[in-house]
Amino acid sequence: MAIFGPRANLFMNVALAGAGGSAIVLLLAIWVVPVMGYNTQQRFAPQQPIPFSHKHHVSGLGIDCRYCHTTVETSANAGMPSTAICMTCHSQIWTNAAMLAPDRKSLAENKPIHWTRVYGLPDYVFFDHSIHIAKGVGCTECHGPIGDMALTWKAQTLYMSWCLSCHRDPAPHLRPLDQVFNAHWHRTPSTPSGQTLMAEYHIHTRDLSDCGTCHR
Ligand code: HEC
Ligand code: HEC
Ligand code: HEC
Ligand code: HEC
Ligand code: HEC
Repeated sequence: MAIFGPRANLFMNVALAGAGGSAIVLLLAIWVVPVMGYNTQQRFAPQQPIPFSHKHHVSGLGIDCRYCHTTVETSANAGMPSTAICMTCHSQIWTNAAMLAPDRKSLAENKPIHWTRVYGLPDYVFFDHSIHIAKGVGCTECHGPIGDMALTWKAQTLYMSWCLSCHRDPAPHLRPLDQVFNAHWHRTPSTPSGQTLMAEYHIHTRDLSDCGTCHR
């Protein structure tokens, strides 16, 4: 009499497949789930008090980033637009639109609008917009195709590894200074090479990955 009956094989195969299957599930859980968009909030557009569209205002109307994010060239923070900035136009156009009611309320009550933040770093990380702008790193390198976004979504994880990968080799991410604010810029054959721009902007990568650069 055989020790294992004819069904034993089938039983063993199912058990093995089950073990293999759970190993795969486990690996997915360890490696893939933590970096999926849902957890990193990448591609996530939070609800805003007013459904503001960069697509309409930047690509449609051609308004420069600095008109609304007034301190991006001069300080660590880009700055969020005051209600008065919106009202330079919206006291004339779309004046009764329901969508803009929070804007009118904010102006009447003299209280700023609280936009929900899309990007944010922990307190222990030091970041400065102005240095990146001055060295030819365009807004879209970090904020994605914002000129095409009807609602602003998060284009990058802001993980340390992401900062470091550029700090180790910034050359491919650089552009001419007059293109930094261009939401639709792309490299053309006549664009100076990354290495040329590195030299022109005096960028040295030697200390850029030191812990003290971002953790001070
Ligand atoms: C007409 C005003 C206006 C212009 C022009 C404008 N923005 Fe904005 N931007 C806003 C407002 C209002 C918000 C907040 C609502 C939102 O997140 O969409 C915002 C939010 C953002 C955010 C998300 C900030 C955060 O962490 O919550 C980024 C990044 C940004 N803008 C980049 C840009 C860039 C790059 C340009 C130029 C290509 C630009 N903006 C042009 C008004 C403007
Ligand atoms: C330079 C003028 C100008 C400024 C500044 C401006 N807007 Fe607008 N906005 C417009 C125009 C023009 C339209 C109509 C666009 C269309 O219908 O194509 C519009 C449309 C809108 C709409 C309707 C939905 C849409 O996107 O079509 C909202 C909401 C809005 N603006 C919010 C804001 C807020 C909030 C600010 C300030 C952060 C602001 N706008 C600043 C000119 C401006
Ligand atoms: C090197 C990457 C990088 C570039 C280039 C960059 N940003 Fe940012 N931006 C960030 C990070 C990181 C944050 C979150 C900062 C924080 O939480 O302290 C941010 C936040 C913002 C915010 C929210 C307000 C604030 O200052 O925290 C706005 C608005 C913004 N960026 C606009 C812009 C505009 C406009 C440009 C181009 C002129 C630009 N950014 C270029 C990385 C970048
Ligand atoms: C796409 C490229 C790119 C990304 C992404 C990037 N940086 Fe930078 N960063 C640069 C360049 C280029 C410089 C200028 C280096 C120089 O002046 O030689 C710089 C400079 C800096 C400086 C100033 C260094 C100094 O010596 O004063 C700080 C701080 C900094 N980055 C922080 C960050 C942080 C934090 C992140 C991620 C949230 C980040 N950067 C993401 C390209 C990048
Ligand atoms: C170019 C900027 C940059 C440099 C250089 C840098 N960091 Fe960070 N670091 C970050 C950012 C951004 C975060 C927050 C996002 C994250 O947790 O990945 C962070 C987070 C951390 C954390 C918290 C991690 C966690 O999981 O909570 C530690 C610890 C840390 N860094 C240590 C270091 C050390 C040690 C060095 C030097 C070898 C270093 N960092 C260099 C940008 C930087």
